[in-house]
Amino acid sequence: MTSATLYSGLVDKYRDRLPILAATEAVSLCEGNTPLIPLDSLLEGGAATRGKGVRLFAKFEGLNPTGSFKDRGMTLAVTRARELGAKAIICASTGNTSAAAAAYAARARMRCFVLIPDGKIAMGKLAQAMMHGAVVMQIAGNFDDGMRLVKEVTEHSPIELVNSVNPYRLQGQKTIAFEIIEALGDAPDVHCLPVGNAGNISAHWMGYSESCLSNADQSAQPGLDADVSAYARHIIATRRPMMAGYQASGAAPFMRGAPVAEPETVATAIRIGNPQSWQLAANAVRESGGWFDEFDDHEILRVQKLLAEQAGVFCEPASAISVAGALADIASGRIAPGSTVVCTVTGHGLKDPDIAIAQSTFKPLSIAAERSQVERAIDTYMAK
Ligand code: F0G
Repeated sequence: MTSATLYSGLVDKYRDRLPILAATEAVSLCEGNTPLIPLDSLLEGGAATRGKGVRLFAKFEGLNPTGSFKDRGMTLAVTRARELGAKAIICASTGNTSAAAAAYAARARMRCFVLIPDGKIAMGKLAQAMMHGAVVMQIAGNFDDGMRLVKEVTEHSPIELVNSVNPYRLQGQKTIAFEIIEALGDAPDVHCLPVGNAGNISAHWMGYSESCLSNADQSAQPGLDADVSAYARHIIATRRPMMAGYQASGAAPFMRGAPVAEPETVATAIRIGNPQSWQLAANAVRESGGWFDEFDDHEILRVQKLLAEQAGVFCEPASAISVAGALADIASGRIAPGSTVVCTVTGHGLKDPDIAIAQSTFKPLSIAAERSQVERAIDTYMAK
């Protein structure tokens, strides 16, 4: 008989590296533990010739319980909110944070309030927030307006703010780095990811830093009591990766060097002009020797389709920008031959069915319910 190894989520798995009491019961949906999927088959053309020996992986966060990486931060933020006795949580969101907040609040039997930009979030995400019973406020403004409002409101109320300005969010999200190191045996050379509000790139960097011998003592996030000796027991990486953060051209404050007043992109998840974790993200990129870059909507959608059609990975538009960046930087030589590269693929493609249906190459064929018609369609496409 083998012993039972029921996975119960990342708070239980990494409790001694998280700022949570041993006795506190986690609010969990068994999040985390997502796969690293090889993407080597996408290395074609310039990326194949310039990127000799490159190993490319997707850390597919779309396979979390609510379909995005937000579950990692939300399990900890809601666990903490319940520890504090909060009855309600609130967030501003471009969609995924609200979906995760709504689900974890439901699980903790708390009220959840979400502010979203009217008409600018993907249908799947809206459906999730509604289905989990959140109070959804569609504001006539963008994410940055929503962020300002929830910060103001929570200054004067007992409601817990669960955006990534809440340090427990980043603490939960840092666990992605632990999983990647465990899977690869060390940190990758380069880590690529989308940047919107800039919390996730900051959390990745924190996780890598805590896992790496020379940096464990610098890993404490301001405002939290870090037990450095607990981290030291888990030193498992010999290095930290270069962090590459990619933004949509219409919402690229890091590329412009200043907030963007009217951010616009088809990748609504990262339609953000004034990132809250600006300084942490800028530090992560600088300290790691990494870089920021931008891609336009056309390239984002092209790579979303490439991933779906040629690698079997269906992600939402914002998530595809990490792979767009990796492929471009491998092709240009910015990412050196022989590198191990991990892309965080942040959210599932089912989140945004409208974009997927609008841009897919293969439209449904409407035919009569007759064998000859089915065979004709097969013949037509087999010949191509
Ligand atoms: N990818 C997806 C799918 C996202 O939903 C987000 C952020 C990001 C990337 C960027 O991560 O903000 O930490 O830099 N979504 C937030 C939300 C803003 O409200 O769901 P970030």
